[in-house]
This record gives sequence, C-alpha cells and structure tokens, in this order.
Amino acid sequence: MFARMRAEPGLCRVEPFGAFAAARYEESSALLKDPRTFSSEALSAAAEPPWIGPNPVAQSLLTKDPPAHTGLRALLTRAFGAPMISRLEVRVRETSERLADAAVRQGEVDLVDAFTHVVPRDIIGEMLGLDPSLFPNFKRWSQGMAAITSAVTPAQQEECRSVVREMKLALTEVLETRRRHPAEDMVSELLQAEVDGRKLSDDELLSFLFLLLPAGVDTTTQLLGNAMLTLARRPEQLEQARADKAHVPRFIEEVLRYESPTQLSFRLATRDVELSGTRIPAGSLVLGIIGSANRDERVFEQPDLFLPGRSKGNQHLTFGYGIHFCLGAQLARLEARVALEAFVSRVRGIELRSSTVEWIDSFGSHGPATLPVRLLPA
Ligand code: HEM
Repeated sequence: MFARMRAEPGLCRVEPFGAFAAARYEESSALLKDPRTFSSEALSAAAEPPWIGPNPVAQSLLTKDPPAHTGLRALLTRAFGAPMISRLEVRVRETSERLADAAVRQGEVDLVDAFTHVVPRDIIGEMLGLDPSLFPNFKRWSQGMAAITSAVTPAQQEECRSVVREMKLALTEVLETRRRHPAEDMVSELLQAEVDGRKLSDDELLSFLFLLLPAGVDTTTQLLGNAMLTLARRPEQLEQARADKAHVPRFIEEVLRYESPTQLSFRLATRDVELSGTRIPAGSLVLGIIGSANRDERVFEQPDLFLPGRSKGNQHLTFGYGIHFCLGAQLARLEARVALEAFVSRVRGIELRSSTVEWIDSFGSHGPATLPVRLLPA
C-alpha cells in the first residue's frame, strides 16, 4: 500500500479523516520541517474532545508551535542530559537482566508481558518518581489515553476520564513531594530548571509528565517488541548479536527504520499551501507517513531488505524531524541496546508459539500486542 502511495506524485487523501498523506520521505520531512505552515495543534484537538474535560497532554510540548514551543523545549531538554541518561543506564541493565533471567527460567512466556513492556515501564516510572505500586497501572493508563480519539460509548468515555483523573492525582502528588523534598531525579531537576529567567509553570510540568507515559513507555515497548519478533523470524540476526555486541546497535537502528513504532505524525495546515503539486486548503489535516518514508527507495537502497549497518541507516524519520525531534531518542536507543544485550546473552533461540502476530490496534503505532514464545536458554 505504502509503495503504491509513494509511486503516485503528490499527496493522497486517506480515510477515515480525509487527511492529506505524505508518503514519500521528501514530503514527510518537508511538512515536519515547517511548523509555521504545518502546526502541531492538530494533536491538541485530538487529545481534548469536549467530553473529556481538561487533559494536560493537550497542552504538552508535543502540541505547541513556535514561539511557545521554543522556550518550553529549552527548559525540558535539561531533564534529558548526560547525567540523567547514565543514571538510568544502570537501572536499565539491572531491570533487563532480572527480567531476562526470569523469562528464560519460565521458558514459555508472553514476551510483551514478561519483558518488552516491563523494561520501559519501570524505567519511565522511576524517571517520573512514581511509587512502584503504580507501575502495573501504566498499561491501562496508556490504553485510556490512546483510546480518547476513538471512545464513543459512555462507558469508554468514562474509562478515559477516570484514567485522566488517576494520572493527575498520581503525578500531582509526585510534584508536591519533590517540591518539599528535592532528590537527585528528573522531576526535582525540572522544578528548579530556569532558562533566561523563566521557570516551568505547574501546568507545564504536569503536561510534560503526562506526555512521558505514552511517549516513553508505549513507543519503546513497541521497539523492543518489533526487535524480539525480528530476532525470532531471523535467527541469523540473533546469532550475529550473540557473537558480536557491536551488531546490537546496528540491528536496533534497522528495526527502527524497517518496523517503525511510530507510523505517522499529524499536522494541521495553517494556510492554503501547495506541496509537490497538491493544493492543501488551510485547516486540512496532513499526515507524514513515517513508516512509508522509511521505505522510500529514493533515500534507502533496496528499502524492503532488512540490512543492519546499511548506508544512511540512521536517516529514518522514526524519531521525527525538525523542532519536535524526539527528546527521548537517546534514552530509547540506550534502553533497546542494554535490554537486548542482556537478553541475547541468555537466549540462543526464540520460537514463536503462534504462526500469526497479534498487532496492537492503532493507526499510528506499530508493534506486537502479545508475543507468545518458547525461549531456548544459552
Ligand atoms: C522507540 C521509541 C520512541 C519513538 C519511536 C519516539 C518517537 C517520537 C516522535 C516521532 C516524536 C515527534 C512527534 C511529532 O513530531 O509530532 C517524538 C517526540 C517526543 N518524544 Fe519520543 N519516541 C520514542 C521514545 C521516547 C522516550 C523514551 C521518551 C521520553 C522518556 C520520549 C519523549 C518524547 C518527547 C518529550 C517528545 C516531544 C518533543 C517535542 O515536541 O519537542 N520519546 N517521539
């Protein structure tokens, strides 16, 4: 489908939103590069339909355009510096080794429940300073947040509202605790962060913490899930990763390109504009199809082959492009590398227990919902 869309010149219209879809790399990156013409406010409207009430994520960094985005991003970037990343690396290693040991002992497991969801869940939970007893709620919370755009029945809408309420309660408590007792962690750092005499407001802080749950947990869960699935389907990749640690980052980069956890990015046209011969009226929804741009034959040679270490291999759009480029890209790559190193050193084979993959049900995200496997210990 994506190859057919790329073969057509210009942008195509796609349902259910009647949006203009940019399937080629050049057009996808062009729209992500131009926030004045293609605004991120589209995300704000999607996150806050009238029935939900105030939803902090609708006011987060991700939904802002310049100039509001610029100062906010400068402040929040503080939290993603080298000290935080190296603090977390130790935790990622401990968590991954413990979970990999348990999975191998069990032999037959669902890798999503046993590993790919739990590693990023525990790391983001710790980064946010939440009580570990709340970590098991994250799956329901992210599902509730993701369901906001599609919830139609009163019961579904009530579930989304209660998720927003629970998250507000938990994250507000973290902010209050850290304000009273600063610690060596991200939230305390953000509470003190100051750029050009400006500090973060309480609402900005809460919105950012809200964003980190879906942005940091779900995406990395899918990356790890796609990586595990690839190792199971391509045993030679598992062998190479086991034989040479240096293969792991190359492998992850190719998984990011080939099976991108984020398949698209939304924007709203702020004025009438023409892109590659297609006229887009002001107010139209425009999609950058990341999953398709990453397979564009104009940029990547033999794009449908899985080739770790390929040339331009890290030029994929999986972490976005331009001013909204993923703040957590370095952390996501680190989590994936450390988690896979721990896993492949303990496992010499991954057998899928089902011939079909159950994918998560989503337009924009891509990864296995469950991954029942039999593990062969090293
Ligand atoms: C494989 C994992 C990940 C993928 C594929 C991913 C993908 C993306 C993409 C595509 C964007 C840009 C969206 C847009 O332009 O509309 C983005 C932004 C963002 N990501 Fe990630 N992400 C990942 C992991 C993480 C992690 C681990 C964190 C934090 C702990 C994180 C935090 C953010 C934040 C805060 C933004 C907003 C940046 C801004 O608006 O300036 N992400 N991510």
